[in-house]
Amino acid sequence: MKNKINFLDLGFQPLANNYLKKGQLNKKEKKYRLKIGINTDTKLVSINKPISSKLMFNNKYPYRSSMSKTMLKSFKNLAISINKKFKPKKILEIGSNDGSFIKNFSKKKVIGIEPCSNIEKITKKKGFNTYSLYWNTKTAKRILKKEGKVDLIYSANTISHIENLDEVFKSINILLNNHGTLIIEDPSLLECLKKNTYDQFYNEHIYVFSLIGIENILKKYDFEIFHIQNLEIHGGSNRYFIKKRTNKKPIFSSVNNQRKKEINYGIQKISTYKKFAKRVKFSKRRLKKIFLKIISKNKKIIGYGVTAKSSTILNYCKIDKEFISYFIDTTKDKQNKYTPGTKIPILKYQGFIKKDIDFVFLGAWNFKKEIFNKEKKFIKRGGKFIIHTPRPRIL
Ligand code: TYD
Repeated sequence: MKNKINFLDLGFQPLANNYLKKGQLNKKEKKYRLKIGINTDTKLVSINKPISSKLMFNNKYPYRSSMSKTMLKSFKNLAISINKKFKPKKILEIGSNDGSFIKNFSKKKVIGIEPCSNIEKITKKKGFNTYSLYWNTKTAKRILKKEGKVDLIYSANTISHIENLDEVFKSINILLNNHGTLIIEDPSLLECLKKNTYDQFYNEHIYVFSLIGIENILKKYDFEIFHIQNLEIHGGSNRYFIKKRTNKKPIFSSVNNQRKKEINYGIQKISTYKKFAKRVKFSKRRLKKIFLKIISKNKKIIGYGVTAKSSTILNYCKIDKEFISYFIDTTKDKQNKYTPGTKIPILKYQGFIKKDIDFVFLGAWNFKKEIFNKEKKFIKRGGKFIIHTPRPRIL
């Protein structure tokens, strides 16, 4: 593409959520070159070659948003605030996962769209009105026919996973009524650049959004952002509140403030991304050094929280089972499998970190507070965490 400049090459990466079964360990894994670039017209930052959604989001998808208390709390608080401020009669969630958000509403009020049928089944079984469908105009038309228009659409950590943003917003336009509100929430590009969290880029995260980038797409569909909240979730996310331009609601100062912050940081300048790429290369060298030093002292390292993000780090820095003995994770569908590319065993979290462990690599660094709270015993006995953001270090 002529208007796209690549600034970062994260090498060959396997599908980030494709955990391997034992029998697959000797088979060759498919890997994809992961380059990151910026569209000089829209300022959208994205990965180079998105992979078909059907390959990533299918009936074997392991991710469960209910695995973190932080997420559950955030969804609950948002639900309370939505009921208070917008009083919606009908709500639709795009990417409803295992129902962590919709469960906060009366079953009559919510509709969930979740393409991964293994997860959609969970909410359906509980009696929620959910559909196992990809989000596109065909889906929107089908829902419109069956359910009519809705007055609130919410989507967390999903829009950034869909390549065709034109289709996304066209579909939203079909279903949202003229006075309705669209709320989307995704990792923030500004925070990603500031915190050097290059692991926000993996094959599922097609985009890492800035306010400026999203606004450039929204204006084509006569949508505008009227409020923005900066969240701590996922290492720094933005929650965008969006309305139709014809709806004359006031625009909060939060929007202008965020725009100023992004411009001041240089989010529109290529030089900002070139500097970021340099920092990422430095981060790789430094993280590897930390691991090598610990291993040379015969100390044992495990990983905590197998995230899709950590797949980018491990594969980019070439940190495999020689460095990390195993990962622990609370997600059933990840347990007794192996990390993609680096083949590190994943074990069930038993409620504590074993006594023979000296260092823990924080794969789920975005839940650092929650995990540090849980692992007070490990910290008390001198156990240390390894973290890569904002720079690789031992905590
Ligand atoms: P997350 O950061 O949400 O994922 P991704 O990068 O894939 O979007 O994933 C957090 C992972 O960490 C998830 O597999 C659950 C796990 N986890 C634990 O095992 N223990 C914990 O205390 C927490 C908070 C998460």
